[in-house]
Amino acid sequence: MVYSKITADEAAALIKDGDIIGFSGFTAAGCPKEVTKALAKRAEEEHAKGNPLKVGIYTGASTGDSIDGYLSRAHAIKFRTPYQSNKDMRTELNNHDAHYFDLHLSELQQYIRYGFLPKPDLAILEVCEITDDGKVFLTSGVGIAPTVARMADRVIIELNRYHPREIEGMHDIYELADPPHRREIPIYKPSDRIGVPYIQIDPAKVVGVVETNLPNEVGAFTPQDEVTTRIGENVADFLSNEMKAGRIPASFLPVQSGVGNVANAVLGAMGANPDIPPFEIYTEVIQDSVVKLMAEGNAKFASGCSLTVSTPALEEIYKNLSDFKPKLLLRPQEISNSPEIARRLGLISINTALEADIFGNINSTHVLGTKMMNGIGGSGDFCRNAYLSIFTCPSVTKEGKISAIVPMVSHLDHSEHSVKILITEHGIADLRGKSPIQKAEVIINNCVDPSYRDLLNDYLKLGQKGHTPQKISAALAFHDTFIKTGDMHNVNWGAY
Ligand code: COA
Repeated sequence: MVYSKITADEAAALIKDGDIIGFSGFTAAGCPKEVTKALAKRAEEEHAKGNPLKVGIYTGASTGDSIDGYLSRAHAIKFRTPYQSNKDMRTELNNHDAHYFDLHLSELQQYIRYGFLPKPDLAILEVCEITDDGKVFLTSGVGIAPTVARMADRVIIELNRYHPREIEGMHDIYELADPPHRREIPIYKPSDRIGVPYIQIDPAKVVGVVETNLPNEVGAFTPQDEVTTRIGENVADFLSNEMKAGRIPASFLPVQSGVGNVANAVLGAMGANPDIPPFEIYTEVIQDSVVKLMAEGNAKFASGCSLTVSTPALEEIYKNLSDFKPKLLLRPQEISNSPEIARRLGLISINTALEADIFGNINSTHVLGTKMMNGIGGSGDFCRNAYLSIFTCPSVTKEGKISAIVPMVSHLDHSEHSVKILITEHGIADLRGKSPIQKAEVIINNCVDPSYRDLLNDYLKLGQKGHTPQKISAALAFHDTFIKTGDMHNVNWGAY
């Protein structure tokens, strides 16, 4: 190898206060794991001496604990974009100790190229191989790696031997040209390849290679329960009825499915529905349920940005690579989440809402309007441009004291114009072609938990006129009541 082998501590010593670092990977899949732990240790030492050490961070999406967890506990993050899902990171950004910029994931690479965000000083890439002429083969996630590897002045490589060299070929690396030179992205079906299986970097930029042998830090999914199973079955029933009505072709359409426990359950239910034929997936994160669907013959192909699967599921893929490799493709996020491709392929997009309102607006990000949960992720990239955009959520949370369906969302991520269908464990609200008051009726009747139906019907009777009959002084009364009494059921419309 022509590169210097260095330790994680030596790599961390190359990072200065104020540096901006771009990482490979997407979710915990394919993210570096050692250099950031050493950086966190160094930051704590420097802070104890009264010296500043904080960095700006660009990632694909969320990361493993080694990046967001360690660096936030060391208070070593100055700013962060575009998505996170780490408890300690959440605390940092909700306390304003780190500034967080929540961004549509498809936009980050171009934001950096356009100069909307500063160029990274350093890229840290997890790879399964680097050749002497600078060809880098990524591991189980791509994210923004091609752009940060090209634009950063220096590159640190984490050569992670846990991932077999034979995964080479699972990636399709392609970086978009910027306007006015951008052309169409020549993907016409999920399995189309348009790039090369590696990132080419200038070997002179590689300041060191840290060798590791570590699995990804992907958490296990919560086992399916009655509620997530019902939501999944409702989605599958809705899609099979759409097929019967001729609104989805008999060969089906490619599916995008969001992150989290509900999303995992939805895909499982689609596989179990005998009316839904084996389908293709064009998505952002390939979760455990996809591996199961493939093994059962219910998923034909999956294109995504990462294999965000549990360690046993990743090991199953690696053990049976000759079966899985022809059916899996990993792309950078400006391609996996491209609005152009979502519209062209006619994606059926299924994402989870934190909160919805009776008029079909969606909050994906902010708990009670103020606390950031994770981020918008790819939900906006897909839902605005999909053939059919479905949002799902359990109708209540926190032992029923919070209704996920409220008069007005406390934060707006996706407006009624991007949301076609809302599904909870109670049923399906088809919002297509409906006026706001018609949407409210179908959402209250079909999706709201029975214990909140009368309260929401009473809200509609507060005597408001107008196309969207909100009573502005009462629109956030559910949230206000929860904050004051700990239960949205206690709302008293008379007080608003
Ligand atoms: N008000 C307050 N808290 C709420 C809530 C609401 N309306 N709805 C859910 N919560 C809380 C839950 O109680 C739970 O809290 P806990 O962590 O204390 O147990 C937490 O939010 C997560 O809920 P859960 O039902 O476990 O969520 P999930 O794993 O299905 O994830 C999202 C749901 C919305 C957080 C997740 O899908 C997300 O981050 N989405 C945004 C990004 C996205 O859609 N990406 C997909 C593009 S491919």
